[in-house]
Amino acid sequence: MRAGTNLVLLVAALLAFGGPPPAEAAPPARDECFTCHQEQETPEAAGYSHDIHRARGVTCAGCHGGDPTSDDGDIAMSKAKGFRGVPKKQDIPALCGSCHGGENEGLRARYKLEDALTDYKESAHAKSLDANTKGAQCVSCHGVHGIAAVTDPKSPVHPTRVVDTCAKCHGNAAYMRDFNPGLPVDQKEKYLTSIHGKKHAAGDAKVATCVSCHSNHAVRTVKDPRSPVYPTQIPATCAHCHADAKYMARYGIPTSQYEDYKGSVHGKALLEKSDLNAPACNSCHGNHGAAPPGVASVVAVCGQCHQSNEQLYEGSVHKEHFEKKNLGGCVVCHGNHGVQPTADTMVAFEEPSPCASCHVDDGTDEAAPKIHRLRALLDSLTVGQEKAEEVLARAENLGMDVSDAGYTLKDAHQAQVQSRVAIHSFREEDLEEAARPGIVVAAEAEKAGQDAIGEYRFRRQGLVVSTLIVTFAVILLWLKIRQIERRQRDEDA
Ligand code: HEC
Ligand code: HEC
Ligand code: HEC
Ligand code: HEC
Ligand code: HEC
Ligand code: HEC
Ligand code: HEC
Ligand code: HEC
Ligand code: HEC
Ligand code: HEC
Ligand code: HEC
Repeated sequence: MRAGTNLVLLVAALLAFGGPPPAEAAPPARDECFTCHQEQETPEAAGYSHDIHRARGVTCAGCHGGDPTSDDGDIAMSKAKGFRGVPKKQDIPALCGSCHGGENEGLRARYKLEDALTDYKESAHAKSLDANTKGAQCVSCHGVHGIAAVTDPKSPVHPTRVVDTCAKCHGNAAYMRDFNPGLPVDQKEKYLTSIHGKKHAAGDAKVATCVSCHSNHAVRTVKDPRSPVYPTQIPATCAHCHADAKYMARYGIPTSQYEDYKGSVHGKALLEKSDLNAPACNSCHGNHGAAPPGVASVVAVCGQCHQSNEQLYEGSVHKEHFEKKNLGGCVVCHGNHGVQPTADTMVAFEEPSPCASCHVDDGTDEAAPKIHRLRALLDSLTVGQEKAEEVLARAENLGMDVSDAGYTLKDAHQAQVQSRVAIHSFREEDLEEAARPGIVVAAEAEKAGQDAIGEYRFRRQGLVVSTLIVTFAVILLWLKIRQIERRQRDEDA
């Protein structure tokens, strides 16, 4: 292992302090590399004088190899002493990883460092470095010769600065073109329009930054199912902060979004059935521009997937009224995070029907009779289908072939699906148009079922009669035969 000798030196330096150095330990007595380079006034030495590695006893040789105890440049920087010179870009992760990687548990345990290399190796950034020396590696984010603790506001990855560090590349279309010309480069721009970005710009370090959603070292492509921004992972990623009441305490906003969402039709479809058509938090809030959809845009947000509902609602009397009252369209009746399966019983005057908050059935509300008729239409269709299904099932049990009627009943189901959309105009004519054919089909199917049962009864009666006739004939025949036999016996005698 190439860092072996350096590690020995590092460990020796650490042991000289008699254990892990205190946080502000003095730099080692002998780093001739640093001394000579400082005399030469090289920028590397100038930077290194305030590098956390120097403060922790790592010499220039910790990364470059060579002998830091010799003040003779030729000896110090000789191959014989393990000097490696300037590392190639592609070799940098392994170089840093010789201390910050999986093989170095002792050192990492001592300093409580995470295994940056193993995570990095799985990232889209590691792939970018394989493709091109300009790809992202440790130094692209942390800098070099002047590396600061990540909790130090001077560090380029400190929460207050990391957005600019990522955007250095991700906001640079010319740079990105060499890797993936199709990758958007507007993340920071959009982020600055979000609540997160606005508060971040105002100095709030608790809001989400690029790293909170994408992770720091294991940054995966967004299509990777293990990425924290893959649809099925997003709710947990957002919940990390938004469901943490203590973390969010000072903002005074609800922290129930995740719980509500998990119990909703959308949450169940995405998280339990992995239905990627169902919305995750970002489908409604945006990826980088995360903000609550304003009252004006809620309808468009839901309308991304529920287009017909949106169109009909837009043409309804409710739209204008809701807007005037500053109410957010769809969420007035369906809620936002906890959207539940719908039912005809939603159209009513009693809680928990959403209509109950505005409509009353005491003769003063002009809409009340219309609401009664809407509900009646929905009920006729539902009850009509239930009855038809029940009758057809009975007929089938009796062995009658009612598959044709069962098949046409599918049209009634279809009409029901359409009616539940059509109701969004809240006009009787529209619902009538969608529901009526279904009501008719259901009635016809029920009649077909009744007919089949009638026919079964008729056939059964017919069977009894014919059985009786046959039995009677058999008896007659038998009597006749006996008569003939008796006559023969009489003749024989
Ligand atoms: C006596 C002075 C002196 C000492 C000691 C010394 N260096 Fe240098 N180093 C130089 C000078 C001068 C250069 C630039 C000229 C050259 O490339 O040789 C240089 C160049 C380098 C380079 C760039 C090499 C390249 O290929 O561009 C690295 C890296 C480096 N030193 C690291 C070290 C390390 C690590 C040590 C200690 C193990 C060390 N130096 C000790 C004077 C010194
Ligand atoms: C934590 C690891 C690390 C330490 C410690 C370190 N370097 Fe480096 N150094 C690097 C890396 C990595 C590069 C290559 C950076 C790049 O390609 O962007 C580099 C590049 C250099 C270069 C070439 C710069 C150039 O522009 O070509 C010199 C010279 C150098 N280091 C000298 C030193 C000296 C002198 C010290 C001690 C004062 C030192 N380094 C300490 C990691 C380190
Ligand atoms: C895409 C940018 C990026 C790259 C590439 C990157 N880091 Fe980091 N690194 C970060 C960020 C951001 C943090 C701080 C996260 C936080 O705020 O906790 C961090 C934290 C760290 C820490 C301190 C946290 C700890 O406990 O270990 C170390 C050490 C570190 N990185 C080393 C590395 C090494 C080694 C590499 C290369 C193998 C690397 N990083 C590559 C962005 C990056
Ligand atoms: C010889 C072993 C060694 C090598 C090689 C090394 N580091 Fe370190 N690194 C350390 C030690 C020791 C610390 C101090 C940890 C502490 O005190 O928290 C440290 C600290 C850091 C920190 C600050 C961690 C924090 O807790 O905030 C970062 C960032 C970092 N290194 C990045 C790098 C990068 C980037 C490279 C490669 C260019 C690299 N290191 C190479 C040993 C090494
Ligand atoms: C609140 C969470 C969040 C924050 C903060 C965030 N992202 Fe994203 N990011 C996402 C989501 C979600 C996606 C899209 C996933 C998808 O398309 O399915 C994404 C996608 C991406 C992509 C892929 C290309 C694209 O735009 O779709 C890149 C690159 C990216 N983000 C970089 C960044 C950078 C750089 C920052 C900081 C300026 C950042 N992200 C901040 C959640 C976030
Ligand atoms: C040195 C430039 C550079 C820096 C700094 C950088 N990235 Fe990247 N990033 C890239 C490149 C190059 C790719 C690969 C693009 C490709 O090939 O699709 C990439 C890919 C990504 C992807 C995957 C996009 C996809 O294809 O789905 C995400 C997410 C991402 N970076 C987030 C970040 C975050 C977050 C930061 C800051 C912590 C960051 N990057 C810092 C250069 C950089
Ligand atoms: C690192 C923690 C963190 C993560 C992760 C996070 N957020 Fe936030 N978010 C915050 C904080 C803090 C605020 C500021 C709250 C405020 O001022 O109201 C906020 C604000 C918001 C707001 C505006 C709330 C309002 O009306 O004030 C929305 C919407 C939001 N986040 C959505 C998301 C979504 C969606 C995700 C996941 C893709 C996410 N957040 C991930 C911390 C986070
Ligand atoms: C189906 C769309 C949708 C989904 C999915 C969704 N939200 Fe929302 N969210 C909204 C709407 C709409 C509002 C605005 C509330 C209003 O105006 O009635 C909102 C408001 C918020 C707010 C502001 C505070 C509040 O509760 O009013 C936060 C924070 C938030 N959502 C986070 C999340 C998180 C985290 C997730 C994922 C677990 C999520 N949202 C999933 C539509 C959605
Ligand atoms: C990304 C697409 C998408 C968005 C955005 C979306 N939905 Fe949905 N919605 C779905 C899918 C898919 C289902 C079916 C889930 C299932 O399998 O039960 C669904 C189901 C529903 C249902 C239940 C229908 C039933 O079966 O009874 C209602 C009500 C609903 N959504 C309302 C909303 C509202 C209100 C919004 C906006 C706040 C919204 N949706 C935003 C995709 C979306
Ligand atoms: C005034 C109350 C109200 C408003 C506003 C409203 N809905 Fe509905 N929604 C209902 C009722 C009532 C039903 C049907 C109940 C039933 O018979 O099952 C329904 C059913 C649904 C369904 C399930 C049927 C289907 O289409 O698959 C979805 C999805 C839905 N609504 C989405 C939306 C969307 C999106 C908006 C906003 C554009 C919206 N709703 C606005 C009351 C409302
Ligand atoms: C936020 C208040 C509000 C809610 C909730 C609400 N409505 Fe309305 N609705 C109104 C107002 C205001 C009007 C127009 C004035 C009127 O005719 O009473 C109206 C009108 C109507 C009309 C008459 C349409 C026409 O063309 O004349 C019907 C039917 C109706 N609503 C049905 C419903 C149903 C069904 C629900 C529940 C699923 C519901 N509304 C929920 C406020 C509401």
